[in-house]
Amino acid sequence: MPTTPSRFAALRYGPPLGILAGGMNKRFYLTTAIDYVNGQPHIGHAYEKVITDVLARAHRSLGEEVFFLTGVDEHGQKVQQAALATGKTPQAYCDELAALWRAFAGKLDLSIDDLIRTTQPRHEAAVQAALTKLHAGGHLYRAEYRGFYSTKEETFLTEKDRRPDGTFDPSFGEVTELVENNYYFRLKNHQAWLIEYLEQHPEFVQPITRRNEVLGFLKNHDLEDLCITRPAARLSWGIPLPFDPEYVTYVWFDALLNYITLPAAYGDETVLKGLGMAAPAGGPVAQPLNLWPADIQVIGKDIVKFHAVYWPIMLRALDLPLPKTLLVHGWWQSEGQKMSKTIGNVVDPIKVIEEWGVDAFRYYVVRELSIGPDGNWTDEGFRARYHAELANGIGNLVNRSLSMLKRYRQGVVPARHDELAATATQAVKETIEQLRANELQAALLAIGGLITYANQYVDRTAPFKLAKDPAQAARLDEVLYNLAETCRVLAVLLWPFVPGTAVKIYQQLALTGAPDQFSAATWGGLAPGHTTGDPAALFPRKDQPPAGQPGKK
Ligand code: MSP
Repeated sequence: MPTTPSRFAALRYGPPLGILAGGMNKRFYLTTAIDYVNGQPHIGHAYEKVITDVLARAHRSLGEEVFFLTGVDEHGQKVQQAALATGKTPQAYCDELAALWRAFAGKLDLSIDDLIRTTQPRHEAAVQAALTKLHAGGHLYRAEYRGFYSTKEETFLTEKDRRPDGTFDPSFGEVTELVENNYYFRLKNHQAWLIEYLEQHPEFVQPITRRNEVLGFLKNHDLEDLCITRPAARLSWGIPLPFDPEYVTYVWFDALLNYITLPAAYGDETVLKGLGMAAPAGGPVAQPLNLWPADIQVIGKDIVKFHAVYWPIMLRALDLPLPKTLLVHGWWQSEGQKMSKTIGNVVDPIKVIEEWGVDAFRYYVVRELSIGPDGNWTDEGFRARYHAELANGIGNLVNRSLSMLKRYRQGVVPARHDELAATATQAVKETIEQLRANELQAALLAIGGLITYANQYVDRTAPFKLAKDPAQAARLDEVLYNLAETCRVLAVLLWPFVPGTAVKIYQQLALTGAPDQFSAATWGGLAPGHTTGDPAALFPRKDQPPAGQPGKK
């Protein structure tokens, strides 16, 4: 069961008072890319949202006030056409799909604070404010454009997109020649500034390899001004320009702005000033919230140019500060190939979650792939890690530690003993350091090290043998304390990654509260005399047939 199913549902129409307590302090603001509403949610979308959720929970666990935003991208020609094909209005079509994406966020156990839709009035009004300001500031101009347009990719193609025989790749779908007037956003004037900014702020695009790619691109290409409109006669499913209703905004321009339109809706002072808005677009907020600049914006490698080139220039033109970090993740393949409906190898995260549980899915994607390189999903790899690291690792450790405590001491925690204290404390330190550096896989490895060490400690100290010898009662107490306390520390460390499992460990230890603050990972928190609850398998093995049933191959 997701641990936070109702959190964002409750926030759909604006922030409740509770979350706003604390005044105008800036929140740690994390965003994900907003997914195309008409796409099929797959492991790639799920991965991005899960890693952002781990970061959001980690920062909350560090005691920070966090705001985690995700969303869906609803405008554009593809959506308009798909809606018409199903006989629905684009809005009705988007409403249905947006509900699926919301449910998807719930299935992934995301602790989001809001989910933005680009068709919401609060977004549209702030986009119009941005356009008005850019127009007034001379950042936009109108010019004729002639070119070949791919509806499928929502973009004009260039000569570079032609194949040697002069045709365009079939992957672009139907390509038509268009001549039209459009509005352009001036990019050229900002090129030198952006190069300097990237050079002076190596933390802006992470990992550093992506930052170097962006720098290489900027140093070797002259930026072309960006066409930011489509004529409304051709495409009505977009946000009209406030100063020329014959045009709607280009879907990317609209989409990128979501990262600041949401703060504007929460009354963020910096953004409202930047957009020249007197009040939040979605109506007054009881107590405003300051979010911008974002602390971490998580995106995939395919959309780096939009985020590391267009987006900073848009913000600069609006006199707004840039996000602190763009964190760029790689792409998942499946069974060694690009995921495609034709090959039939698209990994459906919901199916995996239904069969194995959300925490197994979350664990696997973070453990398998560090943020940056591409990854490869294999069913076999997933199954292997599930059994080796979840069932045999944390599952076995918690189960045998608590079972032995129950069996030999009726679940009553013995006197404190510190044999595993140094190892646990070191794991806590490393985990926190890695999380602060956005190194989620390395953080999980640090936690995994403690799990392995504690499992070896059981084998080494053999409490089941100690229990047979009354002369060893004091030693058995020591071992049992060390194991139970390590389980408690592990629950706290694991919470950002596998929140449901962390809560279960706490419940089995019969502890009140949630394991959601790293400050609780200090050794010695388990009080002697406390009675623990009943152990139950956290990750049941699935490679052996249940007793009495024949095995199936
Ligand atoms: N709507 C735009 C983003 C606008 S952000 C202002 C878009 N949507 S998308 O649905 O195509 O992709 C959403 C995110 O999912 C992107 O960050 C993208 O990189 C990521 N992924 C899509 N397929 C992926 C994989 N196979 N693997 C990992 N992430 C992938 O682009």
